[in-house]
Amino acid sequence: MKVNRRQALSLLAACLATPALGGSRITLRPEEIVTQVAGRRLPMLGFNGGVPGPDIRFRQGDTAQIRLDNGLNDGALVHWHGLRVPNRMDGVNVLTQDVVIPGERFDYRFDLADAGTYWYHSHYLSYEQVSRGLFGAFIVEERDPPAVDHDITVQLFDLLLDADGQYDDSFDPARFATEGRLGNIKTAILSRNSVQQGDRLRLRIINPSIDRIYRLSVTGLAGKIVALDGMPLEVPQALAPMALAPSQRCDVIADVTGPVALRDTYDGANDLLGHLTVTGTRSPSTAPIPTLPPNRMTRPGTPDHTTRLVLQGGAGAPAHRGTGTWALNDVSGLPSRPLIAAKRSQTMRIEIENRTGFPHVMHLHGHHFHELDTSGDLGPLRDSTLLAAGETRAITAVLDNPGAWMLHCHMLSHQADGMATWLTVS
Ligand code: C2O
Ligand code: CU
Repeated sequence: MKVNRRQALSLLAACLATPALGGSRITLRPEEIVTQVAGRRLPMLGFNGGVPGPDIRFRQGDTAQIRLDNGLNDGALVHWHGLRVPNRMDGVNVLTQDVVIPGERFDYRFDLADAGTYWYHSHYLSYEQVSRGLFGAFIVEERDPPAVDHDITVQLFDLLLDADGQYDDSFDPARFATEGRLGNIKTAILSRNSVQQGDRLRLRIINPSIDRIYRLSVTGLAGKIVALDGMPLEVPQALAPMALAPSQRCDVIADVTGPVALRDTYDGANDLLGHLTVTGTRSPSTAPIPTLPPNRMTRPGTPDHTTRLVLQGGAGAPAHRGTGTWALNDVSGLPSRPLIAAKRSQTMRIEIENRTGFPHVMHLHGHHFHELDTSGDLGPLRDSTLLAAGETRAITAVLDNPGAWMLHCHMLSHQADGMATWLTVS
């Protein structure tokens, strides 16, 4: 068999199960592929031949130079979720750039000021393109990373299959109005399969599922949750079951005490998502679980802008302005005016009230914000905040990244059906 260079490269990529990419220049090529996911061969969309796409790894302080080479028969855009990139590198249709048409390229370039666990995904028809596989892990290692034996990415993904076990490509809009397009297959895709008892692990857990919330329960590990949405916790938390809404991340540093199982226990479920086989024993580390060094963030003070954001709509709710089922402050779809027009370095506080009958996870581009607890104290830094039906929560941030930034529900079916707004920083 004679193969050309491109075929050879894609064969190689297929054999190596999406090796990690890093270094000075990277190309991400989204394409239609047939690949193994959750134990089945399915027609999907993949970056560089795989679902998920390759793990991208850089070191804090590096400059990422990433070429998007659109191999789809459709438009493409990549968003670097959670990374505080310059606005024109944010990968958002209309607000920051034009869609990259089939056969065209776009060069993304940005400096990596923050260490942590981030991810990349399609931001064009994202409810469909992400659900078909256009996502991957984006890891920025600390300048002096904590000592662990294995650094493992874990991506929680669900798939909707039809009665014949084929990928359900109906994208029934009726699902948009409720909890979204939930898959009937759930899986955890791990970058490694086996460990030894006594190993110290760092798990970088990412939820790229378009609409599904997980409550992740882990057995066989003793350790701490050390970061949320990429940002180190000042005080690491006990390794208890973790809620992970679409787009959210969680870093765990822990020692292996037995076979490791990851289960989803959300809403009464008890489903095995994935596991790590134990192949031997070594003497465990005696060092305490480390606290990660903080990223440089300005602490918000008294807000210059205080706003309310009311989440409305969904099945059974009254109609709103605009075209979609879901609305924010009475408007469905991107409004003509931003929610906030701030000057650089001003502080915003948004009180988000979920008046719908469903949970939502609100994601802000270009910044991290603090969740405020009920007594008004600053909670952890996040880029996405989960609100249960009927719940209200305030968030606050210093808006120090100039540009037009999206604020939307990261249940991508809800975003597609109107749950999106934006703010500007000048
Ligand atoms: Cu993860 Cu608007 O995106
Ligand atoms: Cu939502």
